[in-house]
Amino acid sequence: MAFVNQIAKRAFSKSAAMSAIKNVTVIGSGLMGAGIAQVAAQTGHTVTMVDIDGEAVKKAEKRIQSSIQRVAKKKFGGDGADAEKFVSDAIQRLSTSTDAVASVTTADLVVEAIVENLDVKKKLFSQLDAAAPEHSIFASNTSSLPISKIAEATNRKDRFGGLHFFNPVPVMKLLEVVRIPETSQATYEAMVEWGKNMGKVTVECKDTPGFIVNRLLVPYMFEAVRLVERGDASPRDVDTAMKLGAGYPMGPFELIDYVGLDTGKFIVDGWAKEYPDNPLFQPSEMLNKLVSEGKLGVKTGEGFYSYKK
Ligand code: NAI
Repeated sequence: MAFVNQIAKRAFSKSAAMSAIKNVTVIGSGLMGAGIAQVAAQTGHTVTMVDIDGEAVKKAEKRIQSSIQRVAKKKFGGDGADAEKFVSDAIQRLSTSTDAVASVTTADLVVEAIVENLDVKKKLFSQLDAAAPEHSIFASNTSSLPISKIAEATNRKDRFGGLHFFNPVPVMKLLEVVRIPETSQATYEAMVEWGKNMGKVTVECKDTPGFIVNRLLVPYMFEAVRLVERGDASPRDVDTAMKLGAGYPMGPFELIDYVGLDTGKFIVDGWAKEYPDNPLFQPSEMLNKLVSEGKLGVKTGEGFYSYKK
C-alpha cells in the first residue's frame, strides 16, 4: 500500500510539475499587456510580449524598464546589487515579437490583451489555436466580452478561460479567474496557480458580464451619472459623499474620469445591446455627450472634471 502511495505521489508530483506554467506569451503590449508581461517576467516566467504594432512594443519595453526599476527600488530599498540583479534577470526573461503565431509555439499559457473587439480577438485565437502546443492554455483579459464567445474560435474550450487583471497590473493585487462551462478543472487550477505565482490574489467567477468587479462598479458609476442627470446632486458632492460616507478611496466621477468615459460608454453600450431589458445597463445621455465632445476624462484633460493646468 505504501509502495502504491509512493508511486501515486510521484506520478502526481510529475503531473503537477508538467502542468506548471513557465513559458508565457502575452499578446498586446498596451496598458494591460505590458503590465502582465512585466509581472510575469518579474516572477520568474519566460515571457514573449507581442503586438502587431512594432512601435507599441518598443514603447512598452521602455515603460517596463522604468516600472521594473521602481519595483526593484521598493523591494530592495538601498541594496543596489540585489536590485540590479532583479531588474536584469527580469529583462532577460522578456523577449518581444510582432508575429503572434510564431510566438506561441512553446507557450504553456497565452494571455490575450489586445483591442476590445470580439471579431479581432476571435480571428487572433483561431490562428493561434493551430500553432500552439496541445497543452497550451488560452486566456483573454477582456473586460466586457463573453469569454465563451471568444473561445468559440478555438478547438480547446477545455483549455480556455478568462484572466482579468486590473490597471496598473504591477500594483493591483486582484486577478479574476473566469471559467466557461467547458473550462476543465485542471485548466482552472493551472490558471489559479499561475495567478498566485504572479503574486496576485485570485477570485473565481463564471463568465457573466463584468465578472465581479466591473459588474458592480460600472452600474454604480452610471447610477451616479443618472443621479446628476436628474439634478439631484453635483458630481463634486456625490464624490465627497461616497468618499466620506461610504469610505471609498475615490468618488464615482473621479473613478470614471480615471477609467475613461469612452471605456465606460463602450462597456455599457455592449451590455445594453446584449441585455436591453436590464435597467442597470442603460446608456446615459450626459456621458454620451461628453464622449462626443472628446471629454474622455484624465487622459484628454477633461471629463466630469477639468485636469488642465
Ligand atoms: P491598449 O489599447 O492599451 O492596447 C492594446 C494593444 O493591442 C495595442 O498596442 C494594439 O496595437 C494591440 N493589438 C491590437 N490588435 C492586435 C492584434 N490582432 N495582435 C496583436 N496586437 C494587437 O488596450 P488595453 O487598455 O491594454 O486593453 C487590452 C485588453 O485588456 C482589452 O480587452 C481590455 O478590455 C482589457 N482590460 C483593460 C483594462 C484597462 O483598465 N485598460 C483593465 C482590464 C482589462
